Amino acid sequence: MMKTFKNIALAMVASLITTNAMAQQTPKLSAENIDEVLKAMTLQEKARLLVGSARDFFGEMAVVGGSADYVPGAAGSTALIPRLGIPATVLTDGPAGVRINPTREGTTETFHATGFPIGSCLAASWNSDLLYKVGKAIGNETMEYRCDVILGPGLNLHRNPLCGRNFEYFSEDPLVTGKMAAAYINGVQSHGVGTSAKHYAVNSQETDRTSVDERLSVRAARELYLRGFEIAVRESQPWTVMSSYNSVNGQYSMGNHDLLTKILRDDWGFKGIVMTDWIGIREGLRTADEVAAGNDLLEPGQKRQAEQIIEAVEKGELSMADVDRNVRRMLEYIVKTPSFRRHAFTNKPDLTAHAALAREAATEGIVLMKNKPTPNPTQKGKETLPLTVKKDGSNVVVALFGVGSYHMLSGGTGSGRVHTPYIINMVEGLKNAGIGTTKMLTDVYNKYVPYARAKFQADNHTGEWYLQDAWGDQKLPEMPVGKNMINHEVKEADVAIITIGRQAGEGGDRDAEREFYLNTDEQQLIKNVSEIFHAEGKPVVVVINSGSVIETSSWRDRTDAIVCAWEPGEEAGNAIADVLTGKVCPSGKLTMTWPISVYDHASSRHFPSRNKVSNHEEDIYVGYRYFDTFNKDVSYPFGYGLSYTAFEYSKPSVKVKGDRITVSVSVKNTGNVSGKEIAQVYVSAPAGQLEKPVQELKAFAKTRELKPGESQVLTMELQRRDLASYDETNCQWLTEAGTYTFRIGASSRDIRQTVTAKVAQYTEKTSDALRPKQELKLLKQQ
Ligand code: BGC
Repeated sequence: MMKTFKNIALAMVASLITTNAMAQQTPKLSAENIDEVLKAMTLQEKARLLVGSARDFFGEMAVVGGSADYVPGAAGSTALIPRLGIPATVLTDGPAGVRINPTREGTTETFHATGFPIGSCLAASWNSDLLYKVGKAIGNETMEYRCDVILGPGLNLHRNPLCGRNFEYFSEDPLVTGKMAAAYINGVQSHGVGTSAKHYAVNSQETDRTSVDERLSVRAARELYLRGFEIAVRESQPWTVMSSYNSVNGQYSMGNHDLLTKILRDDWGFKGIVMTDWIGIREGLRTADEVAAGNDLLEPGQKRQAEQIIEAVEKGELSMADVDRNVRRMLEYIVKTPSFRRHAFTNKPDLTAHAALAREAATEGIVLMKNKPTPNPTQKGKETLPLTVKKDGSNVVVALFGVGSYHMLSGGTGSGRVHTPYIINMVEGLKNAGIGTTKMLTDVYNKYVPYARAKFQADNHTGEWYLQDAWGDQKLPEMPVGKNMINHEVKEADVAIITIGRQAGEGGDRDAEREFYLNTDEQQLIKNVSEIFHAEGKPVVVVINSGSVIETSSWRDRTDAIVCAWEPGEEAGNAIADVLTGKVCPSGKLTMTWPISVYDHASSRHFPSRNKVSNHEEDIYVGYRYFDTFNKDVSYPFGYGLSYTAFEYSKPSVKVKGDRITVSVSVKNTGNVSGKEIAQVYVSAPAGQLEKPVQELKAFAKTRELKPGESQVLTMELQRRDLASYDETNCQWLTEAGTYTFRIGASSRDIRQTVTAKVAQYTEKTSDALRPKQELKLLKQQ
């Protein structure tokens, strides 16, 4: 009896020792033991970690929002492997704020995120410090809502104004794109939260976005479409980069070793993970090839993808070294995340403080496009804006036209749409600024909006998730307004404001006729309101509430002032009122050309391409590079924006010391109110072996708020390398020796000062990546 008891006790001790030993052999992930964890992982676990973990991972196809187990409405997540102490991490959409569901089952609590201005509006501020602050606030909301990565910023170039997602992107210029993105990324990541620079690369159109092959010269790719990503990687090391749906020169980006490894990692030194855009298994692309190409995480994740990785390794078609390389990067990413450090998220970010920042950001991005002297005979010589109090000290009264004034668009549709707690419209914004609107017109529109919304929803019930999801914040059809009504209004109001709204989004490009051009109702509204108000000596202001470029040249002469407010986020009406009243002096400038006709762009012939191939025959002549080199008239040029004050530029200086080039210019506020100015440095290269656009933006800077009479010296640094073009023949960046002209301007067509400097030759070898398989007929200067 005694012996049996002893045996049992011994067996128990032995089993405890074994369990302990096994536990000791199974390391728990820490920043210091990544090698050890990697060694302890089974092939199944490795494959699991390389594939996203949408909720129905074990079903056939995962869906966006599949991370509901963690954060309802988040876009995706990564695998949870408790055995090795590997937490799940959560990826949420952006970039204009955290995109999660605002409500959840079983609670009355809400989970709204701040709606910041869209990318194009933020970029129009040309203010990296502001982008950093916005990024920081978005990073904080990401973390407080239990997410680890925000899927943004969007860095695709505005190749053509019709791209449906231009609103999420920054510019037609890669320098502005890269600098804005780097500032945003640094802001988000200052919290120890990740970003995803997307969509890498050349995802210039939404039409057939999963199948189109973007064919372009290596030079156009390197200098334009990839350059923004390069700047962002070098200056901010995003934790993740998202590979795009499309192909580039015949090869899906997702399986494109040249893009994902040779360029991104070898040439630029990217250290983070690459994740795919949200598609799963692709026809014509083996999962193993995506892994081998350097795609570390396949989102949103299908069980079959993990099985394919395992099968490919077992058959010897995918090397264990490639798998381990990607798994190691995943582990390196995971140990940095809030989920790993068990951040005690609150679900309560400071939405009030962030709303104030969203308002500030919107005011800095709003562009004053036109501001002529008012037709009001009692205010002779005064410009239409800002709206000032009347002679008797009372505020002006506004007749507010356009359905958009009552139903403002805070952002675009699709995965970029943020569920904001509210959207301030123009009536509210003006009212908060002490300005009233006429009663009858406001009442009529306020009745029209709910009717139009209900009708629109019923008429457009397509079942498309991105349309359904965008409801409530969708552009509504215009309400025709008769002349009698305008005749009534002109008696009641001192000024007319008309809002023209446009909205686009993921999954489709914009239709030129319906979305670039104004429709008959809108044209008629501007014409009738202008004629009737001008006859009474009263001004007409147009507010553009659009994420993208619209046609302006056919109607702008009828108006007295035009304000481009973009899609300015949840504080829309307040921010616009700040600019209209002069509380904020406008300082935004366009980061893309506004053409006369949408077909004026050199890319028009191939945009959007519907035959699965998009030839970039315009080559490097995108945006102002085309219009300025080929001397084409535009409606509003790149870099353009007015102010309520005026600025003078002093004689600049340029110093070349080794690789460093320093351009300095003093900017003086010569007007009557305080304001900020954005100085832009365009460089014209000497004639050489490579053809060059007539000028290219190489640096820019924004002043602080200058009081009347105050000056600031802006010092802008660039490297000799920044003047280089890509020399395809020798796979190198090449700055040719010679005299360069530095043209300092208030826009690309308003050059105020020039200065020249001799620069010595510079070369830098790169990998030989991305050669097109077909000859392209490229646009050349004569
Ligand atoms: C979009 C991405 C987005 C992802 C997750 C994709 O369809 O292209 O921008 O981050 O979905 O929602």
